[in-house]
Amino acid sequence: MTTISQPTVTLDVTPLAGYIGAEIGGVDLREELHHDVIEEIRTALHTYKVVFFRDQQIGHAEQVAFARRFGKVTPAHPHEENPPEGFPEILPIDSRRYEENLGRKRTSYDSSWHTDVTALVNPPAASILRSDILPPYGGDTAWTNLVAAYENLPAELRDLADRLDIKHRFSTRATSGSQRERKVREANLVAWHPAVRVHPVTGERALFVSPGFTRGAREIRGFTPSQSERILKLLWEEATRTEYTVRFRWAAGSVAFWDNRATAHLAISDAGHLGHDRVLYRVTLEGDIPKGVDGRESELVSGEPFHGI
Ligand SMILES: [Fe+2]
Repeated sequence: MTTISQPTVTLDVTPLAGYIGAEIGGVDLREELHHDVIEEIRTALHTYKVVFFRDQQIGHAEQVAFARRFGKVTPAHPHEENPPEGFPEILPIDSRRYEENLGRKRTSYDSSWHTDVTALVNPPAASILRSDILPPYGGDTAWTNLVAAYENLPAELRDLADRLDIKHRFSTRATSGSQRERKVREANLVAWHPAVRVHPVTGERALFVSPGFTRGAREIRGFTPSQSERILKLLWEEATRTEYTVRFRWAAGSVAFWDNRATAHLAISDAGHLGHDRVLYRVTLEGDIPKGVDGRESELVSGEPFHGI
């Protein structure tokens, strides 16, 4: 007979939409969670692509500690120079900062559909985002299931997408000549990724298009700019069809944890114009180099791979 430190548990998992998203109840993220619980959360993440926790009372340290149970935690962001003191892993998504840098209140830096930092040759495997200051209404986030988007394409379009490579580039909204603009320009993150990537854990194929990072380059290998643009528009639209999405209403103590290899997300920009602030904190897990359906790998064009600390 084997003795285990804690009985295997079954998490309370409630799906939120037909293709993506589930809420996980009965877990206190302040605690050192049992290995079995971590593995169940990991399984739920791979199944539902984004999972949500409610009413968590955690700070930066607990958020980073929770993230470390799932992989190597990266620095906050390739361009982040001012993370919270003592927490180089924490990226503030802070409307007050955007107002300072961009001259107007925004509730997110990027208000287009994107997968986090896909301009890197090894984009983060997952992101964990926690709410802090929220507008009284508005400021939701939506996620889309890129596996469902791929699987529901007509077979002929899947075959074409399987063979495409798309250029991802980090471009900035920062004011020309500003410190941030200079930093983004100097780092110049650019990578080619297969339009369809195979998930290293589930083996599922995802339509890996990240509009926020492919819109700047508008380039598919071997196609003219005009052809690239028209094919990209088709893929962006398929990737973000409403039926593949879930929309999450943030509340105090909300935490979202998404598989960045199988999703894209959108910060819905409907709170900044009302003058409300919105502050969330993100950590990301180190990612692998994506592989296409034939095993070909993403290629670094400019910048450095992004590793955990
Ligand atoms: Fe994001």
